[in-house]
Amino acid sequence: MTVASSLADDVAAYAALEPWALAERWRIYRRLREESPVHEVAGSVLITTYEDVCSVLLDHERVHNGAPSRGVPGEVLDRLTQGERAMLADIVDWEDRWLTAANGRRHAELRALGTRVFAARAIQDLRERVAAVIHEMLTSLARRETFDFVSEFAYRLPLTVISEILDIPDELREPLHETWVGMMPARTGLAWRSNLPRDLEDAHRHFKAMERQVRDLLDLRSSGPTTEIMRNLVEARASGVDEKDLLVLIQILITAGHQTTQDLLANGLHALLRERDQWRLLCEDPSLAPAAVEEILRYRSPSQDIERFAAAPFTLRGVEVPAGRHLTILLGSANHDPAVFSEPDVFDILRPDARQHVAFGRGPHFCLGAALSRMEGSLALEALARRLPDIELVGDDPPWIPSTHLLGLAFLHVSPGPLRAG
Ligand code: HEM
Repeated sequence: MTVASSLADDVAAYAALEPWALAERWRIYRRLREESPVHEVAGSVLITTYEDVCSVLLDHERVHNGAPSRGVPGEVLDRLTQGERAMLADIVDWEDRWLTAANGRRHAELRALGTRVFAARAIQDLRERVAAVIHEMLTSLARRETFDFVSEFAYRLPLTVISEILDIPDELREPLHETWVGMMPARTGLAWRSNLPRDLEDAHRHFKAMERQVRDLLDLRSSGPTTEIMRNLVEARASGVDEKDLLVLIQILITAGHQTTQDLLANGLHALLRERDQWRLLCEDPSLAPAAVEEILRYRSPSQDIERFAAAPFTLRGVEVPAGRHLTILLGSANHDPAVFSEPDVFDILRPDARQHVAFGRGPHFCLGAALSRMEGSLALEALARRLPDIELVGDDPPWIPSTHLLGLAFLHVSPGPLRAG
């Protein structure tokens, strides 16, 4: 294990996506909370305590949302060519239309459109179908001696569910996902902005490809029968909603929940199988699955950070934050804050206050897909505990994907053991 000597070294290694620092991020978060809870690095201000995370997310006067790629430090912008700036501007134009980037009235309007899609009732109506998809997948995977839980279950379940909701044809499902992965450099968090123009051309190509693919989907579903949710989106286009706003909304509905739910499932199974007593608890009483989901969201939050900008200058814990400064809100650190969660580094599915976590954010941007991912997570864990109670990890601990923003395993090899009726 490499241990950097100073906090600055630790944080720099973490921001530069050093694998050892990503694996030790909770230790680095603890140091930050204790030694420098409001900390400047890579042109951003890190907010790390539960109290500050909540107050910043609820402070709409001084803190705004915006396109993440806007937060490029001046010295980095200076080294970009004109062509590179134009590519960055295209990316910013797309990101600016994300729900997560919008503020005030514009956010309320865009969100109203999204809320129609994710009304709680519509999600409950999907329950049976999601359970059936899980049943089929586990029945087939149980025939194998070993399999990669990430690529063969955790990746496929949310992709199948959202594709059915949005009526995405089979042949477009994987290409859409690959395009999203290609857009990822812009989502790797702190490293993206400071390393520009590295990865810029590639990311730009994928942003453009996403626009084409989503437009093709909307065109395809503009005539003929489709799901109620897709019809709403098609009708929104006909009623004059800006087409690019609509394309971006569809993109975010397809992608926002995919990687995150994949990570919820894989991070969760990994934690449960490493802490075998927790897995046994769940197998003895599978109705604990919803509680286990909340603890996984707290303990191994799929979205480790979200981004904001200072709309006005302010001072937090003695640190002066100028207007326009990029802020990194560390949800993953808030969820390990001992001021709120006792023994925060212990994974305990019976923890009574796990639901206090901020894994879905806080305030008006609270995750629109929370009910859907909670449902997918609970049904999947319950089915795994009932049907594959002897499932085991195979091989060494898998690495985390290179991102400060997302927390996900690159792979997770398991041996399923015998299939029970369940
Ligand atoms: C475990 C799974 C998930 C996690 C951890 C997660 C996390 C988050 C977080 C932290 C935010 C707040 C962003 C911010 O304030 O800047 C958010 C917003 C959002 N999420 Fe999720 N999410 C998950 C699943 C989903 C799913 C399944 C969908 C939809 C299919 C979805 C759609 C959205 C959308 C559209 C927003 C933007 C809401 C707004 O800005 O008003 N998420 N999510």
